[in-house]
Amino acid sequence: MADAGRHPNITLHTLSEVTGVSGYVGNFTINIVKRARHVDETSCTSCGECAKVCPVVFPDEFNMGLSSRRAIYIPFPQAVPSAYAINMNECMGRGCSKCLDVCDKKCIDFHMSDQEIQVKAGSIVVATGLEPYDPTQMDEYGYTRFENVVTSLEFERLVNAGGPTQGTLIRPKDRKHPSSVGFIQCVGSRSKRKGGTYCSNICCMNTIKSTLVLKEHDPDMEIKVFYIDIRAFGKGFEDLYNRSRQLGVKYVRGLPGMVEELENGDMRVAVENTVSGKVEFHDMDLLVLSIGVKPASGTQKLQEMLGLQLTSDGFYLEAHPKLQPVDAATRGIFYAGCAEGPKDIKESVTQGSAAAARAIRLMHKGLITTEPITSMIMEQHCKSCGKCVEVCPYGAITMDAKKKSPAKVNSAACAGCGTCAAECAFGAIVMNHFTDNQILSQVDVMLTENASEKVLTFACNWCSYAGADYAGVSRLQYPSNVRLIRTMCSGRVDEKFIWHAFEKGAPVVLVSGCHIGDCHYINANHWTEKRIDKVRKKMEKKGIRPERLQLSWISAAEGVRFARVMTDMEKLRKGVTAEEIMATQKLLQKDQKETVPS
Ligand code: FES
Repeated sequence: MADAGRHPNITLHTLSEVTGVSGYVGNFTINIVKRARHVDETSCTSCGECAKVCPVVFPDEFNMGLSSRRAIYIPFPQAVPSAYAINMNECMGRGCSKCLDVCDKKCIDFHMSDQEIQVKAGSIVVATGLEPYDPTQMDEYGYTRFENVVTSLEFERLVNAGGPTQGTLIRPKDRKHPSSVGFIQCVGSRSKRKGGTYCSNICCMNTIKSTLVLKEHDPDMEIKVFYIDIRAFGKGFEDLYNRSRQLGVKYVRGLPGMVEELENGDMRVAVENTVSGKVEFHDMDLLVLSIGVKPASGTQKLQEMLGLQLTSDGFYLEAHPKLQPVDAATRGIFYAGCAEGPKDIKESVTQGSAAAARAIRLMHKGLITTEPITSMIMEQHCKSCGKCVEVCPYGAITMDAKKKSPAKVNSAACAGCGTCAAECAFGAIVMNHFTDNQILSQVDVMLTENASEKVLTFACNWCSYAGADYAGVSRLQYPSNVRLIRTMCSGRVDEKFIWHAFEKGAPVVLVSGCHIGDCHYINANHWTEKRIDKVRKKMEKKGIRPERLQLSWISAAEGVRFARVMTDMEKLRKGVTAEEIMATQKLLQKDQKETVPS
């Protein structure tokens, strides 16, 4: 942190909030509001005289409220810059002014106001961190009802040499040194009832580390850990776990159902030991709740600003879990640390370094090369309806609505999903490398012979097409009459491709793509879903069975699902009669004749 603060090429904006982001890779503009510190950070020497005279006392957030701070304070000892700040919501202001009087350097300014800053950046690294789970809602553990029930973060401060007790472990109620400590694991993690359903990743090892620290200070201390299962999967972690057991720490398999306070302040834990199958009661001097983690509170706001995706757990979704684990789906944006999911320090450092390297790799040439698969507006056909602007997940298309000028594609921001081309009702957008003509020609070729025996499938490059590959390499059997047409995203599948396939005699058409929430182009497959719904309704109106058009989400790892869906399609195909196909063809040909101007 101090290194970053001193680095000539790094500018730290502390007490700052991002209020808006616009632009695209290589050319982002970030609006920031820098909150007033009310202390000039360049002249403050952090002598601390101001805090000594400040009469306002508040709980110190860094010490989890176990100690106090003043209204003028340094948030934590290693804070950068090392300068005091005043919380004006707490400060008595001019009515007191004691800090103003004692500050030799005259760096306190009650009239300092928030500043608006604009920063230009070529790439963005999102490192928003996480928040601890608040266990008050798990009433059965008595947190806040019983003083001797603390969270793992509070415990961390209690045993820390720089903490409120200088590292001496005491229990809060009577300041007695505990001779027995219990840890309850998975508080707010892996729970369908309260907290997150996911594993918070760090709690098991944090508890193991804490047991080792306790045993080091007091080898006779009785320590019990109540757990579902211990996940010690990192390098050297299993050794630490074994060491903890060897030192006498007892691991009780089972999560307590109830905690109560005894007269002497001890905590009684009722737990069903799932190894013995018996309900047990354990009396402990101090109880530590090993709390899970959740996404930082501003995650959703930033996600909307940057056009990112979130997982169902609320963390940011990476562009690809294996091949692009630190990239966002929007080019030029990367993730570091727990923004993308719960991580320990080592993983956070690894991911932060990777994100920095990815950003440098992109920027170091001073010139960004764009992918050739981008859309292009045919200005002569554009009617300035604005549909493409609405559907582009990347905000890569702009249009001056007042002037009714043709839409413009920013090819640096365009990721090439093709949704705009599929939604344009005037054929004014060409999707390079996946043009209408190229795709229609593929449909023609695939249905030239024995069309009624084919299952025509549009598969998105990233999931369904890869799912087909996976089915192939896994030697899974699926009907050989399946014909695949690859598009970058299912969002590219234009309504006209589907009608054309039916007109050419396709008995069934399948559109497949990534699962909702997994689309590699943010949310482009939402448009696929809407479009397929719309086409099905039209089919119904025309008297064509809508079941002949199918939509299926298949991921790259779902080879088995791919084979099963194809087998289902084949069954569906067999149910479509030659008369039905012919009737559809005639109807569509007639429709076409009527719409073609003479
Ligand atoms: Fe697969 Fe969009 S990339 S549906």
